[in-house]
Amino acid sequence: MNKDQLSSIMVIFGGTGDLTHRKLIPALYNLLNENKLPPSFAVVAIGRRDKTNEEYRKDLKEAAQKFSRFKIQEEKWADLEKRIYYYSLNFMDGEGYPDLEIYLRELENKYKTQGNRMYYLAVAPEYFEVIVGDLHKNQMTEKEGSWRRVVIEKPFGQDLESAQYLNHKITHAFSEENTYRIDHYLGKEMLQNIMVIRFANAFFEPIWNNKYIDHIQISSSEVVGVEERGGYYEKAGVLKDMLQNHMLQLLALTAMEPPVRLDTQSIRDEKVKVLKGLQQMSTEEVKANVIWGQYGAAGEIKGYREENRISPESNTETFMALKVQIENFRWSGVPFYIRTGKRMPTKSTEIIVQFKSMPKILYWQEYEDLQPNLLVIRVQPMEGVFMQFNAKQPGTETQVVPVQMDFCQNCHIGSNSPEAYERLLYDVMRGDSTLFTRWDEVEYSWRFIDTIAKVRKEMNIDFPNYEAGTWGPKKAQELLQKDGREWWNI
Ligand SMILES: NC(=O)c1ccc[n+]([C@@H]2O[C@H](COP(=O)([O-])OP(=O)(O)OC[C@H]3O[C@@H](n4cnc5c(N)ncnc54)[C@H](OP(=O)(O)O)[C@@H]3O)[C@@H](O)[C@H]2O)c1
Repeated sequence: MNKDQLSSIMVIFGGTGDLTHRKLIPALYNLLNENKLPPSFAVVAIGRRDKTNEEYRKDLKEAAQKFSRFKIQEEKWADLEKRIYYYSLNFMDGEGYPDLEIYLRELENKYKTQGNRMYYLAVAPEYFEVIVGDLHKNQMTEKEGSWRRVVIEKPFGQDLESAQYLNHKITHAFSEENTYRIDHYLGKEMLQNIMVIRFANAFFEPIWNNKYIDHIQISSSEVVGVEERGGYYEKAGVLKDMLQNHMLQLLALTAMEPPVRLDTQSIRDEKVKVLKGLQQMSTEEVKANVIWGQYGAAGEIKGYREENRISPESNTETFMALKVQIENFRWSGVPFYIRTGKRMPTKSTEIIVQFKSMPKILYWQEYEDLQPNLLVIRVQPMEGVFMQFNAKQPGTETQVVPVQMDFCQNCHIGSNSPEAYERLLYDVMRGDSTLFTRWDEVEYSWRFIDTIAKVRKEMNIDFPNYEAGTWGPKKAQELLQKDGREWWNI
């Protein structure tokens, strides 16, 4: 990669916020550490608070020391730090943008960034429209011979209608090509690895279909509760916080057809087809196939309703399990079970493919409890691939037992996978939007989610219905049991 193409100013709206401190600045440091940031690069971080550059840089250094995956080295930090500028602006005050433009131009001349800019909106979603609108009004969204890109954090809308409205506003100012909608799961190593595992190995792709696969489980669990995000989470719940974006992206990558090429459009085209193919459920089907949960207290651990900034009568769900079908030739008849929630026993995200069993003859006659073949793609925190198959236990008798092969990508010393935001920021700079969601992906996700949300709105569930530290409500187990299956907790 020619580093000139990366030359740019990163303008962060929300420079004093949590995301900037915990993710963006550590990611920039790690990119610098790996020699991926060009010298012609600077950051302008915008917040409302009064701060000098020195004060701001000191705050960032503390955050980087805490959250960076590489240890902070003084010399390298100094190199980054001197290129970070704090700019105080109330971005609701439209009058402030001309001065910001003058400030950015001065830095562009100083750092020879050729007018290239990444506007990163690390702010609450209700501000996306107003910031983009003001940038456009002040002719800051385009410049001949330069690139101007906008990065939008999740959530992108609250439902299909609000997402369409927001998209209309954004595309008025930035082309689709220059709009980078973040789903940070896509920046994770193992998500990028799903396509490699599927399409670069002869022994997976030929059996990746309804002839050989019994069902697929996609599971993402967190041990923590809502933490400090109560205000946001009360409105979103797990449906909008996890299912609409991360879980459907995992599903799309697992189920997509091989793209004709590895370019951005071809990959996104295939993902969209999966989302389009999701079976639209009737009200009765939603009631039967979607399970909702909210955690209650357990010992010292508070229940959701006792958490900070949560209503004591909250009806917001912190857990979901659902069964979905993809209506296409490859997947007809193969259920996908999705499960995600907070305050569960372990932190893990994985895709579990359970293969159909062999005909019930030979060993199956003798060992009725033979285990099915499983392929597990571990996404986080462990990264790797796990396989379970049957083999003979050494000995004079023929005893068949399940054995496991476990490839752990991040267990080895020296392997230090990049954080998702490193990859994503680097991709924005080099203009590669493959790991970001295209508008039609967002649109089809919301179409699917809106149907479920509509039914959910009419339902009154007796919350809390699972104890913190467990695998969700009993009904989640029953969802699979009634199909003769069970959740794998591997
Ligand atoms: N935090 C995460 O881990 C995380 C993860 C995924 C997605 N996100 C998304 O990232 C975005 C930012 O989240 P966050 O947690 O970083 O939020 P946050 O900590 O609440 O930060 C909000 C930022 O917006 C600034 N701000 C608010 N109103 C302003 C105004 N009128 N003028 C100028 N600045 C203003 C604040 O500046 P002042 O404080 O100086 O006023 C602050 O820098 C959200 O869309 C969120 O959904 C966050």
